[in-house]
Amino acid sequence: MSYEHILVDRPADGVGRVRLNRPKALNALNSPLMDEVNDAMLAFNSDAGIGAMILSGSDKAFAAGADIKEMDGKTQIDMLMTVSLVDRFDFKKLTKPVIAAVSGYALGGGCEIALACDMIVASETAVFGQPEINLGIIPGAGGTQRLTRAVGKALAMEIMLTDRKLSAEEALRYGLVNRVAPLDEYMDVAISIAQKVGRRSQVAIRLAKDAIDKAYEMTLAEGLAYERRNFLVAFGSEDKAEGMRAFIEKRRAEWTNR
Ligand code: CAA
Repeated sequence: MSYEHILVDRPADGVGRVRLNRPKALNALNSPLMDEVNDAMLAFNSDAGIGAMILSGSDKAFAAGADIKEMDGKTQIDMLMTVSLVDRFDFKKLTKPVIAAVSGYALGGGCEIALACDMIVASETAVFGQPEINLGIIPGAGGTQRLTRAVGKALAMEIMLTDRKLSAEEALRYGLVNRVAPLDEYMDVAISIAQKVGRRSQVAIRLAKDAIDKAYEMTLAEGLAYERRNFLVAFGSEDKAEGMRAFIEKRRAEWTNR
């Protein structure tokens, strides 16, 4: 598939990158763009040469939200009869880790798509917010749930009810992002984290990501049982045998991802 609204490349060994590329609309997330993002990321997910993915925009805008011009003409029934925004912006089906590299505006759906990723690296210029309230709507791609889990109820209320924006430093302080880096370094930081993930046993990475995600879905008792299941699965892998042998023999593990 050739893409119109995104750029796809491999900036380093084992790393697949998808860059939103609608600069004139500050990467507003319209349906064709989201279809392309999902297509490209699923392709990387099933590519054995890729260990982790990066989702980014431009230095000026990660994404300024769902496309207001596309939504303007839509009725309630139009929205009901198409793929929901939550599903369209959801990367749950991806088994490999996704790192959002965020610079500039990450607003509305832009903030939500970053929150749907597994980690976020922000440039110092990043601005996070959910300004839907100004449009007479509410976040519709996971913001009320994921942002609230990330920053807590009080701040989430302020962000979504009053359009309070968070700077990159605030986002770091409140636990929304993993790292903040200067504008000319944030992408390298994201790539370096993706490479660190890619160098590990992909069996263990997959099991760990899957279990961490369940922390948002289950009670503690259910989550602990789920973790134990994945832990036992890891014990059946060749990588478990190799990882422990390599430690004892004081050498670097050679993962086979089996
Ligand atoms: N949808 C469609 N177009 C958008 C857009 C969006 N979300 N955000 C920006 N654009 C377009 C503008 O219309 C403008 O296009 P034209 O030149 O054709 O007029 C272009 O991008 C540049 O934007 P501005 O001139 O507004 O740039 P600015 O630097 O003055 O302001 C901004 C930047 C503060 C991000 C401002 O564009 C803005 O407020 N954008 C809307 C942010 C927003 O409300 N996002 C939430 C959308 S709803 C949503 O996301 C629902 C959900 O939960 C999924």
